[in-house]
Order: sequence, then structure tokens, then C-alpha cells
Amino acid sequence: MNARPEAASQPIRLADYRAPAWRVERVELDFELGIDAAEVAARLLLRRDPAQDEPLRLDGENLELLSIALDGRPLPVDAYRLIDGGLEVDGARDGSVLETRVRVHPAANTALEGLYLSGPRDTGFLLTQCEAQGFRHITYFLDRPDVQSSYSVTLRADRARFPVLLAGGNPDGAGELDGGRHWARFVDPHPKPSYLFALVAGRLERIERGYRTADGRDVQLKIWAEADAIGRCQYAMDALERSMRWDERVYGRNYDLDVFHVVATHDFNMGAMENKGLNIFNAKCLLADPDASTDDEYRRVEAVIAHEYFHNWSGNRVTCRDWFQLSLKEGFTVFREQSFSADMNSAPLKRIEDVSLLRRAQFPEDAGPLAHPVRPAEYREINNFYTATVYEKGAELVRMLAGRLGEEGFRRGTDLYFARNDGRAATIEDFLAALGDANGVDLTPYLAWYGQAGTPRVRAQGAYDAAQRTYTLTLSQHHAPSARQPHKHNLPIPVKLALFGADGRMLPMQMDGQTPASETVVVLADAEQHYVFRDLGERPVPSLLRGFSAPVILECDYTPAELALLLAHDPDGFNRWEAGQQLALRAHDALRDGAGPHGVTAWCDALATLFDDPRLDAALLADLLTPPGEVELAEREPLVDPEHIHALRRQLQLRLATRIGRDRLDARYRRLAAQATAALDAGSQANRRLKQRVLQLLALLDPALACAHAAAQYRDAPGMTDRLGALAVLARHDVARGAEPLAHYRARYADDPLALDKWFALQAQLPGESTLARVQALEADPAFTLKNPNRARALLGTFASGNPTGFHRVDGAGYRLYAERLLALDALNPQIAARLATAFNGWQRLEPQRREAARAALASLAACDKLSRNLAEIVGNMLKA
Ligand code: ARG
Ligand code: ZN
Repeated sequence: MNARPEAASQPIRLADYRAPAWRVERVELDFELGIDAAEVAARLLLRRDPAQDEPLRLDGENLELLSIALDGRPLPVDAYRLIDGGLEVDGARDGSVLETRVRVHPAANTALEGLYLSGPRDTGFLLTQCEAQGFRHITYFLDRPDVQSSYSVTLRADRARFPVLLAGGNPDGAGELDGGRHWARFVDPHPKPSYLFALVAGRLERIERGYRTADGRDVQLKIWAEADAIGRCQYAMDALERSMRWDERVYGRNYDLDVFHVVATHDFNMGAMENKGLNIFNAKCLLADPDASTDDEYRRVEAVIAHEYFHNWSGNRVTCRDWFQLSLKEGFTVFREQSFSADMNSAPLKRIEDVSLLRRAQFPEDAGPLAHPVRPAEYREINNFYTATVYEKGAELVRMLAGRLGEEGFRRGTDLYFARNDGRAATIEDFLAALGDANGVDLTPYLAWYGQAGTPRVRAQGAYDAAQRTYTLTLSQHHAPSARQPHKHNLPIPVKLALFGADGRMLPMQMDGQTPASETVVVLADAEQHYVFRDLGERPVPSLLRGFSAPVILECDYTPAELALLLAHDPDGFNRWEAGQQLALRAHDALRDGAGPHGVTAWCDALATLFDDPRLDAALLADLLTPPGEVELAEREPLVDPEHIHALRRQLQLRLATRIGRDRLDARYRRLAAQATAALDAGSQANRRLKQRVLQLLALLDPALACAHAAAQYRDAPGMTDRLGALAVLARHDVARGAEPLAHYRARYADDPLALDKWFALQAQLPGESTLARVQALEADPAFTLKNPNRARALLGTFASGNPTGFHRVDGAGYRLYAERLLALDALNPQIAARLATAFNGWQRLEPQRREAARAALASLAACDKLSRNLAEIVGNMLKA
């Protein structure tokens, strides 16, 4: 039974925000847990704002009200009303106590919001997901983040079926009850908003570790998982400890409860959730072992563990006033995680990974019909706004502020932010004010970034005056209109830059009134600004936007030789890679436009030179050997033919492979393969990454040889990275030969859902029209189900978002199948349906035939009268713009 509120409901607007008229000071919850039905008794101590004269209105969805009493007396039926999405109560005053008892149905809850069952009914366990508005599926409440309450939670359940009972906060007693039942109580000393409530009940195993915080608190860290998964939690435990130490050292933040619980589930809509003292994780973001997890997955586990842990301060101790401020906690926390991961691993590689994600996921979102500011002005369904813009672009905005203040200044600022707002529900303005006040600077100009959608373009032009020995850099900013936001302002855009001489050395920069430096940051605030650098004996090559100092698209008329110079010499690892990407784009455009060979050869020559450079990190080389992906390439075209983009990119890589040469690729592969190991150190990971890239390039030149290598690699793989990489090459380049290892893998991992997800995803990604039939065949695999979000994402999500030539079949069959599945999914899980529907983003720029087919598929969805509010909003926006 899922809520189906009016799809045509009115949008919620930031401008309409009002402080709550009623608050809950204290809440006591009492759960009688069962698989099919659970009863929830709630006792709320209410506070009324004397300045407001509003009736008491509680949020509630799909609740079966069993009893209700006010100040100890059962309420007569005419003293309360069940209204759309809630409950209205008469007669409450400041200090009143409202008691309700409701029944909910965990096993029937396929939306995975509120209280639900993970796994089979006889062996699975119960858990909750409340952010953003799941708590109202558990009990009647003031379910908004600016209502913060003290929680006391008692769980009661059958001991044999639910031996483990957990809730947020500190344990506060447990015991036996009659009839084989038991109870446990948890009390959270920190007032919190309802979205941070959580409970877990069932058969779970644990690992644990003692931890003493920098300020001397002893904490028990416990990670919980089902018996078959508990052996894969050690890496997460190590990552948790590293995260806690890092947050103490870098932000001065200590943990604040006696226990910290983390639980893994296979049934989860998102990556993980930072519930106070009881983080709940998608198993995909928690479990790791070499036989079943790739290197990328290891890094993801570390990153997500850190992200959720860091929320304890950036999100929990200081929470959001309203959901428009979501990036206050998410953007900041992503930034904190990025900094942590950069410290734990390689900073330039992390930056490359993050910017690639931004370009692949956020730039297209910001350029299409779903574009919205980091702080949206309105929404219909808040779950649709957990987006790359709120998370990833939000993190870039925090990065700009951090860069503006410098390391120490930023720390002063965050100290003040946490001190001022501890226990409060804050806004983006509060964040900027604290950062600014701590440093005596006015950061309010940056607020404009939070309110404006779209990726700014920055144009750069340089002019060298040999007689004056000056170099004048002209920067200008340009803002295209966005969906529902036609008018734009100029923004403060920090551009970090350096100048290089023809020999590849950095030149000292002398600007008027400034001390010479090898690197500087200019903030472009006006439409156009000029920067004059003096005393230069040669025309410099500028390295611009170093480290990707602002989330913009930079346009600069570099010559291929200038890009090659930066690629060879820039000590900024990110910009070095970026020069390579720009050079690859030149090569791509030359191929596309049938221009002379020169444009193509510059990129190939530069990489062929770097290929055997022993000083170059193997992982960076792997990234350098990878041109921008098909989504990024499509973003640059006014009219998109995914087939054509795929073919061009393939051709581009073939040129590169040819230039490097079959024998060099083969030799490099053999050398790397000889070092195969399951070790996880950075060097071993880098070798695996390069090996895979080299094998892919070799497969373009000599598929038979590459497949022979891949077959051996699959057979002898010491870990998942090598095994999956080999499988991907085989499946792609030799369909006949790929069938056997695919079947082998299927059998080997029959009982490992996460490994099976990779099996589905790998096949969904195989390019070409025939993959649609394969996807349909895979839907018939007994392991496929729409009910499990990871599985649905692995097969259908990967097909639509990770396989342009498969999904965008010119006959529209990909769109039709997908629209049908979205509809089926929407009946089960609206959040996942809406999320997957965003794969249609960009449909308006498709070439006419595909565009019409995509429009028709979207229109067929829009015509359904039973769409969830989630899916209706996405489809509606998609068609509106
Ligand atoms: N706050 C979670 C995080 O750390 C995400 C939860 C989102 N949940 C949702 N239903 N949209 O990123
Ligand atoms: Zn988060």
C-alpha cells in the first residue's frame, strides 16, 4: 500500500517558509514489532508558539489510527480529523501530551520508506528509512527538520525472530517479556529532527571495536550485517576509524554518543543514511572483500562511510531548517568526504574522479529540463531533489568558499558555524555568515551561486605584448537561460591560474600591487575583466582553473601545442589531465569535422610519448588514456545521434591505440599482468587500472589477442577488479567466447547479490541494438526482480544511463520498454521509478527520429492517471521545458 497523493498537488515554495507553530519537545515511542504488522505508540510533549494561532496539524501517511488521547483523556471522534496526509487535533495547548497508537504494515511496504522488511519474510529483518519524510509513515508527527525533539524509543518483539533490537541514541536498558518476547530501550540525549530517527530489528551479526575520541569519550563501534555478510565488514570498520580520526584532526569534531551502529541492508533506495547513532547502509556501500569487490567499490565504501559519519556534525548536530537547505548538509558533507578521500588516497586522482562525475551527471542535469539551483526555489516531491546538483555542485560551492578563505580561515569559519548553530536547524545564509564573520569577509556575493541553475561558461583570451613584456588575460562569464529560470546574474568565479614558458617551466607572475607568485587566484565577478601580468619575456601558456577552481565550462583557444605543453609539464595533476582531455576533444572534433590529420595526431603523439614515461603514475596514465565519455561528448553537440557519438569515440580510441602500437600495448599488458595481486595498496590498484585500460585499447586493435589475455586473466584473477575487467572485455569483443565465463560467473556468485548486480550491469552496458533483447532475457533470470532497488538499477538503470547505443535505439524500442518498466516500478517504489526516469534527460536534443520516440514514451507515462507524485513531477518537468 503506497501513498498516491494527488500528482497535481501544489508545489512547496521556499518563499512560503514559516517557523513551526507547534513543536514536539519530547517523544516517547513504543514499538510492538512484527513482520506483517507493527504497532506504534507515540507520546508527544507539545509546545505551542504563542505568537501563532494555528490548529495542531500532524503529518501522517498510510497510518491506521487505533487510538488517540490528549492529556490523558481519549479524544472523542469530533475532536480530531483525518485529513489528506495527516491528522488535525482540537484542544491542544502548550504543554499538552498527545498519545496515539497506529498500525503499519512492514512486509507490504515496497516503497522502502518508513518501516519495512529487508529480505524474505521468514529470515529478513525490519528497518526504517525516514529522510526526507518517511517518519510520517511510522507515526503522526510534525515531520519537518526544524522540529527537533528528544527521543526515547522502546522496541518490543519476539526474541527468536528478532534477537537484535536497535534504535538511535544510547542503549538504556533491555529485558525479557512474557511469551518469548523481549524489549530494548534507546535514549538519544541530542534533540533531533524526525528524519534522523531509525530502528533495526532482526537476526544480525556484528563486529565491534572500541574507540576513544580525541576529547576522551569511549565509544563502541558496531557494524551489523546478516550472517553471510558479516565477514565483509572489516574494511568498513577500518574506514570508520580513519574517518573519525580525520574529523577530529581536520575539523575538530568529536563523536558524541557511547555507541555508533552501522547496519547493512540489500534493500535500500539510496547509498546510505546518517540516522543519529544508527547509520543504515546499502550493502553495496558497506561490504567489501577482494573476491567480490572491485577497487572502485573499496574506495566507494570508504567514501560513503566517511560521508555518513561526517553528517554527525554537518547534518545532525547542525541540521537544515527546511528541505530547500538540503545542500547545507549534503554539499558540505560531500566536500568533507572529498577532502578526506583525497587525504587517504591520491588527491589529483580524487579530483579527476569528482570532476568527471560532475561533468557526467551534474552538467547534463543543469543543462536540461530538470535543471534547478543548488537551493531550489520550489518542489513537489522532495525526494526528487537528492540530485547531483544539490550534492556535487553543492560540494563545489563549498570548495570555492574554502578556497577563498584558505585552510586556516576555512577552519575558523567552520568552527564558528558549528559553535553558533549546534542544536539548530540552519540555513545556507547561516553557513555563509559564519564563514564570513570568522574571517572578516563578506561572502554574501556567493549566495547567488545557490539560487541560480545552469553551468556558467567562462571565456579566456590572452594577449602578449612583446614590447611592453605584458600578458593580458581577459576573462568573461556567460549564462544561458535554464528551465524555469530565464534571467541570470553574474557570479563570483574564482579562477586559479599559473603561467608557463615554452620550456615547460612556471613563470613568476607579477600583477600590479601584488607580490610575485607562481600561482594566483583571480575572482571574476563582472561580465568581463582584464588581468595584466608584467615583466614576461615570452608569450606564456596559461594554466587556467587549476584544480577545477570553479564549476564552470572553460572556453579557451589553446593551440594543440599549448595543450601538449601543459599535459607534459603542469605540476597540477588535475590540470595536466584536463589538458589531455581538451586535447582529446580537439582530436574528436577533427575526426568529426573531417579536418586534417593534425588535430588528431597531437593527442595521440602526446600520449604515445607519455606511455612509457616511468615517472608517470600508472593510474593517472590510465585516466589520461581515457577520452571524455559519450555523455560528455553528447553535451557538446546541438543535435545528438548516440550511435554516431559512440562510433566517433571508438574511432578516436582506435587512433590512439594504433599510434601507441600493438606491440607496446601488448608488452605493457604482459608486464602489468605478471604483477597481478589481490593487494589493495595504491600501487597495486593503479596497476590494475592501467592494465584494464591497456587491455581495452589492445582489444580495439587486436580483439583476438586481447580476448586471449582476457580469458587467462579471468581464469587467474586474484580479485574482483581483474575478474570483472576481463569479463567485460570478453563479453564486449567476443560474444561467443564471452558466454562461457559469463555463465561461470553467474554460477560462482549465485548467492552473492552484489556480485550478481555487477553481472547484470556488465551485460546491460554492452553497446549496440541487440542489447535490448539481452536485457529482456535477463529480466527472465530468476534472480531479477523490480522489488530490489540495486537489482533494478543494475539492469534497467545501467541500460538507460550507461548504454547510449542500446537505450537510444533508433526505432524507440529502448524507450518503450523502459517506460513500461518505470510504470511497473512506480507501483512498487516511486522514489526509484522517479530516479530512473531521469535517464530521459537530454531527450530534447536527440536527432528528430529518436526525439519523437522519446517524447512519445514520456507522453505515454504522463498520460497515466495513477502516477506517484515522484514520477509525475519528473515526467512533467521533462515534458514541460
Ligand atoms: N542523507 C542521505 C545521504 O547521506 C541520503 C538520504 C536520501 N534519502 C532519500 N529518500 N532521498 O546522502
Ligand atoms: Zn549525505
